[in-house]
Amino acid sequence: MSISKPSNFLNKRVTTKRLQEMKDAGISISCLTAYDYTIAKILDNAGIDVILVGDSLGNVIQGHDTTISVSLEDTVYHSKAVVKGADRALVIADMPFMSYQVSTKEAIRNAGILMKETGCSAVKLEGGEMVADTISQLTKIGIPVMGHLGLTPQSINQFGSYKTRGKDKKEAEEIKKDALLLQESGVFAIVLEKIPATLGKEITESLDIPTIGIGAGPFCDGQILVYTDMLGLTVDFNPRFVRKYANLNETINDSVSKYIEDIRNGEFPNEEESY
Ligand code: KIV
Repeated sequence: MSISKPSNFLNKRVTTKRLQEMKDAGISISCLTAYDYTIAKILDNAGIDVILVGDSLGNVIQGHDTTISVSLEDTVYHSKAVVKGADRALVIADMPFMSYQVSTKEAIRNAGILMKETGCSAVKLEGGEMVADTISQLTKIGIPVMGHLGLTPQSINQFGSYKTRGKDKKEAEEIKKDALLLQESGVFAIVLEKIPATLGKEITESLDIPTIGIGAGPFCDGQILVYTDMLGLTVDFNPRFVRKYANLNETINDSVSKYIEDIRNGEFPNEEESY
């Protein structure tokens, strides 16, 4: 079976430098999450620029309501598999809750573990002012960091809900200030999650580095979605920022039902499928 690649498919491995070149050239950056080898390989073959081993694995893989319980070991396990499947895409590992907040020293140790044990090319962590010094230290020692502002799911217990952030002027100003601070601290890009499109535009225009939006409107330099959402594997999560490009839940359900039926009817395996 031949697999089609986008016409602008570039064979060169994507680097953080390449993402900056894309922003400067006005080329939008495509990003998706992945948590295993098989999916990473499919996304990479299709030409995705960035694969994030998101701590959304807490929801998608482990079935939790939040990302809070994801451990460093979980992230190492999934990142290793994703790195094996990604020949071209930049692989970024999400630092789990409490793996970088206690002290800069611990953050450096844990980011180091992620880089050394998994082969990922960068880490992502959530927050603004509170993590700025840690980010400065990480980037100084050669660990590329992606920031994450707006709705930061690791703070769900403080926010109390997954509603849009930065709708009021005060919070919008804080997010804008944090974005500039993260840029000064050395992040190579910032994820902006669930904020008004106008705020996404303002922040994108105020920064030299790329912004990657998820529910942050069309003006960001790139977009990211959780792959299970955009392929319709997830059925009970339908925020308006998710566009469903497939209905794999239905496809898998239909295929498995047919498989069960074929076994019950004695139609699988047939002669050709037997030795
Ligand atoms: O964990 C994750 O998947 C993320 C993306 C949604 C940006 O942080």
